Amino acid sequence: MRTQVAIIGGGPSGLLLSQLLNKSGIETVVLERRTRDYVLSRIRAGVLEWSTVELLRAAGVGDRMDREGIVHDGCYLSTAKGMFHVDFKERVGKQVMIYGQTEVTRDLYDAQEALGATVIHEAEDVALHDVDGDAPFVTYTKDGAEHRIDCDYIAGCDGFHGVSRPTIPESIRTEYERVYPFGWLGILAETPPCADELIYANHPRGFALASMRNPNLTRYYIQVPLTDTVEDWSDDAFWAELKARLPKEVADGMVTGPSIEKSIAPLRSFVSEPMRWGRLFLCGDSAHIVPPTGAKGLNLAASDVHYLFEGLKAFYQAGDASGLDSYSDVALARVWKATRFSWWMTTSMHRFPDQSDFDQRIQESELEYLAGSAVAQAAMAENYVGLPFDDD
Ligand code: APR
Ligand code: PHB
Repeated sequence: MRTQVAIIGGGPSGLLLSQLLNKSGIETVVLERRTRDYVLSRIRAGVLEWSTVELLRAAGVGDRMDREGIVHDGCYLSTAKGMFHVDFKERVGKQVMIYGQTEVTRDLYDAQEALGATVIHEAEDVALHDVDGDAPFVTYTKDGAEHRIDCDYIAGCDGFHGVSRPTIPESIRTEYERVYPFGWLGILAETPPCADELIYANHPRGFALASMRNPNLTRYYIQVPLTDTVEDWSDDAFWAELKARLPKEVADGMVTGPSIEKSIAPLRSFVSEPMRWGRLFLCGDSAHIVPPTGAKGLNLAASDVHYLFEGLKAFYQAGDASGLDSYSDVALARVWKATRFSWWMTTSMHRFPDQSDFDQRIQESELEYLAGSAVAQAAMAENYVGLPFDDD
């Protein structure tokens, strides 16, 4: 088989890139290791930056998001001293869209099917070849048979544990990482949200987050030690701890119910440079991971896809390779700004095991400053709603 762009990974990055390329007449093949149902079973974050919203609309997958998504003007932050609101719309004139990543992925799968795009599931043993040459190709096995795809370019959209990043020689790669000493225990529940917008809670017992998917589906998280397991947390124990960390007026009005999903996710900041080697371009989680505190994971995947799509389109339509040549530097510039913001949100809102009293007071004064400063809130808001994809 031959195609123009071979895409490794059928998550949000791979599917969105394939959708945008196909709509511009550029041929792709997506190789996904898992089944479609498995990919859609993953519960991920639910906040879309407005640039991501506009990119999804441009890709032709914005209709259900616009119907079912919830537009938020801001969010709440709570500390032992009370809760305050940061109004993104007032501070920086932008909003965010609450719409689950699972739904984004579902919409992308449906759109790819409607286009007749080639998405190959249960593709095993994917391997990238001659990536630094002029004739790269990909091999994989399916149903026991060996396959080969010759292509012009390869997009590594296969996430943190994928095969693409390791294809770049260690001598070329520089990896930066911080692993946080706690995890997030998250649940989904068919209950109404406890507030009109998200609540990020800094509490001496640990961080908590009250989020949502729709008027009858909530997503809650509490910080837990890395040694905890899902089995350690009954629903009752989870609800009691969540309520203990949220403002009393919120906890008292909270509707609880049985969890329909419960999982613990570790938190790390990770960036691998460069995001290009020869004919291979890394997109999304294959190149970087952010702690979910800043809701940046899917949104960084979207900006990577935006830059790579524009670069490939310019190449195929006008023979202009400048976007491809600048891809890694341009994408990494935005990745690092979002990595910094996600690190700031995480270190400001969580209790660290080795946190000294001084650290605690610094954290509290950071949030008190934010509560009382329109300028500080504008700085937080412009990062939370997403820095512009381009400098225009
Ligand atoms: N071969 C083929 N597919 C693979 C391989 C492989 N060797 N390794 C991984 N994959 C697939 C995974 O099964 C997954 O479906 O690549 C896909 C990668 O998807 P994600 O991990 O979701 O990464 P990405 O598409 O970049 O989306 C980033 O997803 O994980 C969240 O928080 C993250 O919101 C962010 C978003
Ligand atoms: C979610 O709804 O899953 C969510 C929202 C905001 C975050 C992280 C997760 O920062």
